[in-house]
Amino acid sequence: MHSAEPNVPLTSTASPGADGLQDLLDSNRRWAEATKAREPGFFTRLARQQSPRYMWIGCADSRVPANEITGLDPGEVFVHRNVANLVVHSDLNALSTIQFAVEHLKVRHIMVVGHYGCAGVRAALRGLRIGLADNWLRHVQDVRLRHRGRLDHLPPEQQEDVLCEMNVIEQVGNVALSTVIQDAWARGQPVAVHGWVYGLKDGLLKDLGVTMQAHTEVVDVFARALKRYPRGDSAAAGGEG
Ligand code: CO
Repeated sequence: MHSAEPNVPLTSTASPGADGLQDLLDSNRRWAEATKAREPGFFTRLARQQSPRYMWIGCADSRVPANEITGLDPGEVFVHRNVANLVVHSDLNALSTIQFAVEHLKVRHIMVVGHYGCAGVRAALRGLRIGLADNWLRHVQDVRLRHRGRLDHLPPEQQEDVLCEMNVIEQVGNVALSTVIQDAWARGQPVAVHGWVYGLKDGLLKDLGVTMQAHTEVVDVFARALKRYPRGDSAAAGGEG
């Protein structure tokens, strides 16, 4: 029976480039069987329709898989990932994904999820040249420049963690200010935008307390979140922010 199916066999003689991929295809078959056994009708239900409540905007890093970290099954979270979890105002890829999630899937929550130890954030912070992505990471450098008063006085390792968090906060703001979310809120559609950061070392997600669910609260929530990061000169400057 198996031999009649298209996936099998894929061997190194069939294609030298496929070396090692047979394991993945075998594993996939076991997963599909186990899922069907656990929940009959799972795939037929999902094949008809997806209705996720959540949208995840995360880093492309292989160590941060949205479904696994949150214990969600396929069909439960709509995912967009790129290097350093950025939402750039003119990025049609991200904006189209957000628009589809909000207007068609009617997700209730969008979480921007950064992670500590992000190579993109580190490169931006240290000015490392890694190639084409340098241009993309300029957006993270913009975040760093904008908040350098809250970053530059910290020891290097802490700077990196704080920039990971600040980058998430900025991207939450970018999602909230997008036309898609502004329009959704204007017509009364309930959708909240959240900022989380994931720890590679402990597997835990942290809520950065920057949830926005109405256009009136964007500026306040944003300002409050940033004030949690003291300025280096706050004592001398009379404690501003
Ligand atoms: Co990353």
